[in-house]
Amino acid sequence: MTAAAVRSAIPEDAYMLGIIGPAAYAEAYAYLWDRPDAYSEQLQSFGQHAFEALLTRTDARVWVGEVAGNMVGFLSMIVGSLDPVEHRAGGAELPRIYILGPAQRVGLGRLLVDAAVEQAAAEGLSYVWLDVMASADRARHAYAKWGFHELGSKRFEKTVKAGLSDMVVLAKEINAPQARL
Ligand SMILES: CC(C)(COP(=O)(O)OP(=O)(O)OC[C@H]1O[C@@H](n2cnc3c(N)ncnc32)[C@H](O)[C@@H]1OP(=O)(O)O)[C@@H](O)C(=O)NCCC(=O)NCCS
Repeated sequence: MTAAAVRSAIPEDAYMLGIIGPAAYAEAYAYLWDRPDAYSEQLQSFGQHAFEALLTRTDARVWVGEVAGNMVGFLSMIVGSLDPVEHRAGGAELPRIYILGPAQRVGLGRLLVDAAVEQAAAEGLSYVWLDVMASADRARHAYAKWGFHELGSKRFEKTVKAGLSDMVVLAKEINAPQARL
């Protein structure tokens, strides 16, 4: 596959983000949903209008991942968002990192997280955090590999299938060494 690259998102990316976002989400997490209305709402939160709003926020930073000039994924970061376990100041949340299936496992996720951590460091932050579905084994493995550690747990606030709402909250200290798995 052609080398993957990462760059900061610009407002004009909202259209493509609104295509890649719902597709990547549905590929990975369709199994969580049994209520069509709840699933539809969740997909809308990855749509063009949602990205247009996100890209106007002064506390939001967004990067896109590309292969041969085509968008295949993205990562969003919210500066100053408090983690739900320790409520520690001086951090940033990584609410979403999504890569289309055929572009996974070639290091793009790592590049996106590195870009976010570098930006967080430049803004004087001390950690980044995120939450992930407890059932998402592949994503959890990636986060462990990238140096995230577990802070605690929470429940997904939306209505998913019974038994699937557990989430894990993870953090990565800035300048912490990478785990070697
Ligand atoms: C999780 C995710 C962001 C990782 O990004 P990526 O570009 O694939 O990451 P990398 O190429 O750096 O690989 C990191 C590790 O992720 C895991 N992984 C990623 N995709 C995988 C896949 N399709 N199958 C198995 N493991 C996978 C592997 O452990 C991999 O390390 P390895 O190849 O050395 O075993 C990406 O796979 C993704 O978008 N998944 C679907 C959406 C998702 O779950 N997002 C997170 C929501 S919180």
